[in-house]
Amino acid sequence: MTTTGTPPLPKAELHLHIEGTLEPETVFELARRHDVALPYASVEELRAAYDFTDLQSFLDVYYANMAVLRTRDDFAALASAYLRTCPEQGVRHVEMFFDPQAHTARGVAIADVIGGLTDAIEHHADDVSAGLILCFLRDRSAAEAEETLRAAEPYLDRIVGVGLDSAEVGHPPSKFTSVFERARGLGLKPVAHAGEEGPAGYVTEALDELGVLRVDHGIRAIEDDALVARLVRDRTPLTVCPLSNVRLACVPGIGLHPLPEMLAAGLNVSVHSDDPAYFGGYADANYAAVREGLGFTDDQLRTLAANSFTSSFLDDEAVQRLL
Ligand code: ADE
Ligand code: ZN
Repeated sequence: MTTTGTPPLPKAELHLHIEGTLEPETVFELARRHDVALPYASVEELRAAYDFTDLQSFLDVYYANMAVLRTRDDFAALASAYLRTCPEQGVRHVEMFFDPQAHTARGVAIADVIGGLTDAIEHHADDVSAGLILCFLRDRSAAEAEETLRAAEPYLDRIVGVGLDSAEVGHPPSKFTSVFERARGLGLKPVAHAGEEGPAGYVTEALDELGVLRVDHGIRAIEDDALVARLVRDRTPLTVCPLSNVRLACVPGIGLHPLPEMLAAGLNVSVHSDDPAYFGGYADANYAAVREGLGFTDDQLRTLAANSFTSSFLDDEAVQRLL
């Protein structure tokens, strides 16, 4: 089922946290299986807790729910459930984020996290192309990020890039200059969340200090004319997540989202779903939100979809094969 009634546009999903696809029903199912106590009596009660006031209020629930992810099979089932939905959303390629520290801190082996996600990617390879981006949690130490990268080294052939996520304000990109330098040296593509809640200056820092090839969110870049000119000149991709920005109160409502202004400024924007189990919908719902909430035309939607492919880490030949 699509939300548009017409076949969904082919697109690449470049901003999706696989842990953010953990649906409330699955939280309960896995909690029962692993005997994990939940602070909610029902799926409905859990869903009612998804009433976020800012990024941190979401992250508190997001990390708490992850307690039910324990085994390699759990990670495989999580990614499989998501990848299965891709064809009906028009999603032909995914570069999915995962947060190893949120699992290793609970005693789950990184081998099980990466192993399970890879099992699912291989299982669905005929339906959708997919890669992994390992994210460092920016509200934890740089030393812990270094340890995480070291622990991931045996699995580098399964990882496309590194990212930076979690609580943004107070945790500038420069905290992670050294680990990103090492990751780039290992051949990993650098990306970072910046300018979601944090200031435009964090976007500049992510470019200057981390050498990012893509900026995740980046909506506050629009507040800095010199930065906009630089991003336009370099065609730096910005992976924008409209439903997320509304649900986390980064923008006051869909009708006031800066995406039209960003597109008009010549920025290389594409639209993605961030944490779809928490924010009200997957890729197609985000396209519907900009069509219905911002009046985007079919041509503009096609531009967003085309940008999603050219902003991916696939080469031109691989993109052509997917279209
Ligand atoms: N982790 C999962 N979703 C996130 C978001 N929107 N911002 C920062 N970190 C995240
Ligand atoms: Zn995100």
